Amino acid sequence: MLPSERQLRAQLAFFSDFIRVQAEKGDPYAKVLGVPENPYPHYEEIRARGRLYRSSLGAWVTTDHKLANEILRDRRFGVRKADGEKIPELMSFDNSMLGLDPPDHTRLRRIAAPTLNPRTAEGWRPRAEEICDRLIDGILAEDKPFNLMTSFAQRLPIAVIADLVGIPERHHGDFYRISRRMTPLLEGAVTYEQTQSTEAAIKEMTELFVDVIAQRKADPQDDMISRLLPLVDEGSLSMAELVPMVTFVPLAGSETTVNLVGNGILALLAHPEQWRLLAERPELAAGVAEETLRFDPPVQQYRRIAHERIEMAGRTLPVDAELAIIAGGANRDPQVFSDPDTFDITRRIGADTLAFSAGIHYCMGASLAKLEAEVAFKALVTRIPRLRQAGPIRRSGSFIIRGMVEFPVAAH
Ligand code: HEM
Repeated sequence: MLPSERQLRAQLAFFSDFIRVQAEKGDPYAKVLGVPENPYPHYEEIRARGRLYRSSLGAWVTTDHKLANEILRDRRFGVRKADGEKIPELMSFDNSMLGLDPPDHTRLRRIAAPTLNPRTAEGWRPRAEEICDRLIDGILAEDKPFNLMTSFAQRLPIAVIADLVGIPERHHGDFYRISRRMTPLLEGAVTYEQTQSTEAAIKEMTELFVDVIAQRKADPQDDMISRLLPLVDEGSLSMAELVPMVTFVPLAGSETTVNLVGNGILALLAHPEQWRLLAERPELAAGVAEETLRFDPPVQQYRRIAHERIEMAGRTLPVDAELAIIAGGANRDPQVFSDPDTFDITRRIGADTLAFSAGIHYCMGASLAKLEAEVAFKALVTRIPRLRQAGPIRRSGSFIIRGMVEFPVAAH
């Protein structure tokens, strides 16, 4: 049964009070959930408490790169409770790959793989370059300070994903508007209004996709929906799985890539010598994407659930123990990365960062996201070499997705 408005408001208020009190008592994970402007010092506090630390909020937390990697690759952990129940959440987005354990996860991932094949990501380069050029033409024509997030960073990934999934041009406006309203699904909603608006957006998006799917059925093209429809006819994919899959991919691939571009430019402008280096050697743009994914990753953490009693790092985890894996902290683990707090676009990232997770849920869009960000950084530095910050930033206010909603910049 769905909770009533009063219950939901009470639940949200209870959570936020509890987190605030625990943060005041000094729990470093509670401080992180309070969405500080800079979470990185708190990750160091967590690291200082051991490889696997039990927060007073109940979750087991790690910033240890090696341990995080082990957990993500260990089949004794999943994303649902041991009995297959979803962990209670305030909003539902069932049946997406990210929320499923094997065998359903394995089957859906295999089905999505041909569209999200890392080897085909390179094929998107000309389209990404064309989108960036068009956006920058518009920005330069206006010749005034602009919000990098709304005028540039938010536009590229949504345009690419719309093509990849198969959304016709005339639906792009609606798709863009609804996508933005769905982002609390990734970030975790914090207000009652957000949960309502997000639930409404899921409904609208589902309706839009039912319409798009009907069009693709009549007129198949080279896109994800057209490729999946024959599987529905064959019976290896149900319609109840197709819709969440094609709505989930844009969600997973938009806000994340948006913030990779935003966080990368923010880091470059905060380290002007790195911006100058990129201007001299634009071929370092791929290095900017890699280093941003390490230094300030768009997805800061994800969760796992113990499916059995597990002995690990000197601790005993009970069945259904919840683990918070802090990618933003693991990526600054001094055991793995030298001078971890230094932003260096020439760094050789020998060990993988955990920005895209690891193991069976490893991001299926990693190559595409890196390509888009590389194209974006190169286009901005070559066409707007005197780019500068033109005002204070405003963050999106989530502890999971780290990014900005406002990033005022000027071209000269
Ligand atoms: C910078 C951009 C991106 C970041 C930082 C990112 C990050 C992640 C992370 C951390 C996960 C796994 C979470 C977990 O283990 O619980 C994930 C999963 C996923 N991502 Fe991405 N992602 C990005 C872009 C994309 C793009 C562009 C697409 C698609 C075009 C995409 C599609 C997916 C899918 C389908 C999954 C689910 C995989 C599974 O559950 O097996 N992502 N992503």
